[in-house]
Amino acid sequence: MSEEMIAKIKELAKERQAIILVHNYQLGEVQDIGDYVGDSLGLSRIAAQTEAKVIVFCGVHFMAETAAILSPDKTVLLPDANAGCPMANMVTGRQLRNLKEQHPGAVVVTYVNSTAEVKAESDICCTSANAVEVVRSIPEDKEIIFAPDRNLGSYVASQLGRDMILWNGFCPTHERILPEHVKQAKNDHPDAQLLVHPESRPAVVKLADFVGSTTGILNYCRESNGKEFIIATECGIMHTLKKENPGKKFYLASEVADCPNMKLSTLEKVLWALEDMQPVVTVDKEIAARALRPIEKMLAITAS
Ligand code: 13P
Ligand code: SF4
Repeated sequence: MSEEMIAKIKELAKERQAIILVHNYQLGEVQDIGDYVGDSLGLSRIAAQTEAKVIVFCGVHFMAETAAILSPDKTVLLPDANAGCPMANMVTGRQLRNLKEQHPGAVVVTYVNSTAEVKAESDICCTSANAVEVVRSIPEDKEIIFAPDRNLGSYVASQLGRDMILWNGFCPTHERILPEHVKQAKNDHPDAQLLVHPESRPAVVKLADFVGSTTGILNYCRESNGKEFIIATECGIMHTLKKENPGKKFYLASEVADCPNMKLSTLEKVLWALEDMQPVVTVDKEIAARALRPIEKMLAITAS
């Protein structure tokens, strides 16, 4: 059944001139049909460059929105319209405008896990792969507002020894990974290296051997001579980790780090999206024009 469904998806994708972009946290079977599987930065680069007419974004709403901003002439489909990101909804454009008024002259750095409306209020965007580099590019004498992820913000601040005004948002999925989970996993697997996504709590990040985006973690494991790894991020990443490294062992730091929104895309929904050419993600023209600048600025700074 699923072979048949995969064949139909491939055929229809070809007919529609569609590209299927898949985030590293998606269900394994969805990752397996992706033309590209990657982190937020990698996928937004592809969305900006692709010549496809249609982008099927197997991820969450802010990712599809970013693709729509970068490629306004393409149709962007999100297989489940309810696949949002709770962290992105923790700050609104109005709230950010109010904070900016209290700090005139501050540079606003916004994580891509945010709405288009919030990006439109920002000076530059970042992802977990380039946040340190982006903040490093801002002159030392400038005050910085970092939104919405307080955990990524405090990781960047610790790396650069720089104070920032942090919005109090967080990823509920990564927040569930507790230092005691990680300590237990380290006790159970004393030879394993600990790899942590920077959306995790600072007390978890502090224990890490390596901190990186989802693609950063995948690259690290592929290139490392190590044989055992404890993974402190969302569980969907285990699919590619295991597939790419059959001789290595991977342990999840916490079984409860499972993002329900990321798991809303299924093969059926990808097929329906291609059949019906919906749900389409669109962004208001004026907001899209303002949101494009901080995204392009980020892509220009981190060109490779
Ligand atoms: P990255 O793949 O960019 O590390 O993103 C993590 C994330 O939480 C996406 O929702
Ligand atoms: Fe949002 Fe966290 Fe889910 Fe990523 S893993 S989509 S940041 S809730």
